Amino acid sequence: MQKTLVIVKPDGVQRALVGKILARFEERGMKIVALKMMQVSRDLAEQHYAVHQGKFFYAGLVSYIVSSPVVAMVIEGHEAIGAVRAMVGATRPWEAAAGTIRGDYALMGLRNLIHASDAPDTAEKEIALWFTPAELCAYTREMDRWVNE
Ligand code: PPS
Repeated sequence: MQKTLVIVKPDGVQRALVGKILARFEERGMKIVALKMMQVSRDLAEQHYAVHQGKFFYAGLVSYIVSSPVVAMVIEGHEAIGAVRAMVGATRPWEAAAGTIRGDYALMGLRNLIHASDAPDTAEKEIALWFTPAELCAYTREMDRWVNE
């Protein structure tokens, strides 16, 4: 099973879409193994987006994620990294397919509601940056055999 980091960004929280976004992952059979609301520090934001340092949008990206609380989570499931990215949709909301989270709830600019890790190595690094090992819950659900078998 893969684990991936998902962040409902400030616009998702401000627009009261947290429940709807969480429900999509749960309804697909994915398991939430860590979850917290937090005000992101500038230091964490800069570490999270370090790979984009130097790009013209870097400063705006950092200001955006620290502008209001976010909900961060770790989602576990079969091929979860790619599956979650597909559910999130294209970076530019107006290009995101209908049925994706961005395609259904976002339209303009780069207020794109949600961040999701893009590869296994990124997921591992991002999970370690946002959560301590103790914050990750390993548990089984009765429904898992119906989802995973
Ligand atoms: S890149 O350059 O291809 O690696 O960038 P990309 O993967 O498309 O996006 C990485 C994150 O940067 C955000 N982004 C932007 N924000 C503001 N303005 C502009 N022009 C812009 N372009 C990209 C994008 O939403 C991604 O954020 P996260 O939180 O990682 O999804």
